[in-house]
Amino acid sequence: MASAPGSPAHAVEGLEGIVAATSRICLVDGVGGRLIYQGYDIHDLVAHASFEEVAYLLWHGELPTRAQLDALNKDLVAARALPEPVLAIIRAVPEDALPMDVLRTAVSALGIHDPEAKDNSQAANLRKSVRLTAQLATVVAAIDRLRNARPLVPPDPALGHSANFLYMLWGKRPDETSTHAVDIALILHADHELNASTFAARVTAATLADMHSAITSGIGTLKGPLHGGANEAVMRLLLQIGEVSKAIPAVNAIIAAKQKIPGFGHRVYKTEDPRATHLRKMSETLWRQKGELKWFEMSRVIEQYMLAEKHIHSNVDFYSATCYYALGIPLDLFTPVFAVSRISGWTAHVLEQLADNRLIRPRAEYVGPLNRTYVPIDKRR
Ligand code: COA
Repeated sequence: MASAPGSPAHAVEGLEGIVAATSRICLVDGVGGRLIYQGYDIHDLVAHASFEEVAYLLWHGELPTRAQLDALNKDLVAARALPEPVLAIIRAVPEDALPMDVLRTAVSALGIHDPEAKDNSQAANLRKSVRLTAQLATVVAAIDRLRNARPLVPPDPALGHSANFLYMLWGKRPDETSTHAVDIALILHADHELNASTFAARVTAATLADMHSAITSGIGTLKGPLHGGANEAVMRLLLQIGEVSKAIPAVNAIIAAKQKIPGFGHRVYKTEDPRATHLRKMSETLWRQKGELKWFEMSRVIEQYMLAEKHIHSNVDFYSATCYYALGIPLDLFTPVFAVSRISGWTAHVLEQLADNRLIRPRAEYVGPLNRTYVPIDKRR
């Protein structure tokens, strides 16, 4: 359909390939298969850094010195507890409420109770970034404890971010392998340029609304199965398939029905997603340790088939699914765990947007009718 006179022509569906911001935070090289945070290759960060160091890097553009990291750790630990009215909201939701919905609601409520709620300065927003990063882990653990009528586990100041998250979730101190696996998963999910949820957060921030409004937008956007919700959809599919031998027929049936296989495809990567490289390895390690390889093998069969037959690579969500499942994380917490990590990237992008802000307001190509005559209601058929 032709666009109307006066309408800007040629909408780009899904904004594919449109460059909508300049950013120093993250480079996604979809052809070279590289992911860079503030100049550092993700492979280097996974090998050497902690999630806390990566969060600092995203916010400040530099890796922290020992003293800076100690100060950040102190601030994160101090911010872990949730305000009682926010806990009351989590307690009040129906037992079967979706954790992503509860998380979105809790973050919105955290905004009301934030000590600097009405301060949208960069200094206050940096402090809010630290608070939100600490609080999201507590919110996700609290959602799971409370819906299962289990007592809340107070955060342990002696534990780092990832270990404390698992401790608050499980109620027991996590082993080193599980802690390391979560830390790597958090590093890998921390930022990804202008993905849909980060874009949503930046659009909200650019109106000069507050940090919590921007993050609430981000969480609502992450929920969808085309974005963060894919990790849960992957595990549901694997469980539904049930047996390695049934994997290829099941994939073929989905494709024949013109549906997508969750955990495959990407708007930017035309080669292996570098995050998948680590998560594949981690999934294998975790399942080998458990002496149970079925879910990893099923994933491999599907991945190899999709690549050979459809030329489509797995993405970050494909192997994060079996990693989280190996760690005993409930399926509907997979996407909230993604948010526990991505909060660092979302907040970094909000800070960057506000440092040099301009309202984000694109146009639509109008393809609707023109010159219609108003018909009084009684004459309409
Ligand atoms: N399963 C099967 N086919 C897929 C596919 C998948 N997961 N992802 C893409 N394709 C195919 C499409 O059918 C399309 O084929 P066609 O050109 O023959 O019609 C082609 O690849 C391009 O896909 P398209 O949906 O137009 O790409 P997009 O850039 O709009 O979407 C995603 C990107 C990520 C939304 C899409 O790949 C998808 O829905 N993946 C599954 C959900 C997912 O894992 N999301 C998490 C992303 S990190």
